[in-house]
Amino acid sequence: MDRIRITGGEPLNGTIPVSGAKNAALPLMIASLLTEETLELHNVPRLADVALLLRILGNHGVDHAIAGKRPGQTAETGQSIRLKAGSIIDTVAPYELVSRMRASFWVVGPLVARMGEARVSLPGGCAIGTRPVDLLLMVLERFGATVDIDAGYVLVRAPRGLKGAEISFPKVTVGGTHTALMASVLAEGTTVIDNAACEPEVADLAQCLIKMGARITGAGTSQIVVEGVARLGGTEHTVLPDRIETGTYAMAVAMTGGDVLLEGAQPHLLQSALDVLTQAGVEIAVSNAGIRVKRNGAGISPVDVTTEPFPGFPTDLQAQLMALMSRAKGTTRIRETIFENRFMHVQELARLGARIRLDGDVAYVDGVERLKGAPVMATDLRASVSLVIAALAAEGDTMVNRVYHLDRGFEALESKLARCGARIERISG
Ligand code: EPZ
Repeated sequence: MDRIRITGGEPLNGTIPVSGAKNAALPLMIASLLTEETLELHNVPRLADVALLLRILGNHGVDHAIAGKRPGQTAETGQSIRLKAGSIIDTVAPYELVSRMRASFWVVGPLVARMGEARVSLPGGCAIGTRPVDLLLMVLERFGATVDIDAGYVLVRAPRGLKGAEISFPKVTVGGTHTALMASVLAEGTTVIDNAACEPEVADLAQCLIKMGARITGAGTSQIVVEGVARLGGTEHTVLPDRIETGTYAMAVAMTGGDVLLEGAQPHLLQSALDVLTQAGVEIAVSNAGIRVKRNGAGISPVDVTTEPFPGFPTDLQAQLMALMSRAKGTTRIRETIFENRFMHVQELARLGARIRLDGDVAYVDGVERLKGAPVMATDLRASVSLVIAALAAEGDTMVNRVYHLDRGFEALESKLARCGARIERISG
């Protein structure tokens, strides 16, 4: 298994190109199941999760072609993928595949919408919490499907097609909103989705569906209205920039000090995180080229942050913020409200010398003068990258184990950091 060795203490200076968003690319790829025509996606990040989803979609009968590198492209520029679900050959998503990536459960919506049935393995819990799918199944039942659970699989049937419905989510769910969108676009009649997730990745999916012929208004707000259509066609769509990757590198620069342009980053996608960094004493400047992050000399001020659905501070940046605040001048309070068990990085950050106390869903981080390198590992990708951020500022060497978590969500992590001066290398085997 690969590991990453980081020798801390170098400031970051230069330019980091921002990749396409993993959490937008995955549902966009799944949307290819909704049409027999070709969906061409650009700026798709080269990630293990994307490769795995291509396998899963292939199982359902989706052909894909990845466009070769164009002149001037580096490994850090996203790829273009053409997806064509000419016919769906299998409506079963097996445990072996779904258990490896929760988002693959989202095939359930389009499969039922197009084929009238799906048999999809329940995804099970994961390192950040139980993560149930009850609200996704509630959506399908509201659309008139029957839902049965048998031997770890969900069997969803709607032989006479789905019917539009009024859906009001009791809590904001990204996957629930993706499912409601992808099921309703081919349902008969009108669907109203209340308390919808406002995440930019939901709006990106809706934009693509609209180009495919769907009739959707309000995506990106808490009420989405969909008028069902009989069929969707192919289109081309460019995946939006990854706000979590942007925030992660912004925190890395805040941690080490230095001056980095996050090229292609869009500030409105992560304003809450940029506001927190500004409060912490980091300089943020926005231009047409992207976001420039700078910290010279001054230390990091502590903050008080609660994770919330968009536009609030994202849970997917909570671990990275905690790493940054481990060296703040005072005590930071971080409350996690989205997932109940997303503090697995605390023990590993402690191995590097961080002082963090947990009290229910709140973490208190007492900033320390210096961190010291150590062997560490993490159980999910955002936790793993928080260890990378801490290691970049720690004295000596840190060995980050279980690198496959990073490969799931961060395109070309080592080369992006190395080109800005980080001493980071992958050790294979
Ligand atoms: C998406 O997960 C993201 N994944 C997550 O990113 C992200 O942390 C999360 O949204 C919140 O922003 C992808 O986009 C692939 P939810 P999702 O449904 O859709 C509860 C990463 O690191 N809930 O919005 O699965 C749930 O337990 C990943 O890239 C139910 O109770 O999250 C949680 O408490 C990790 N019942 C809350 O809702 C349900 O049926 C929000 O979860 C569904 C969800």
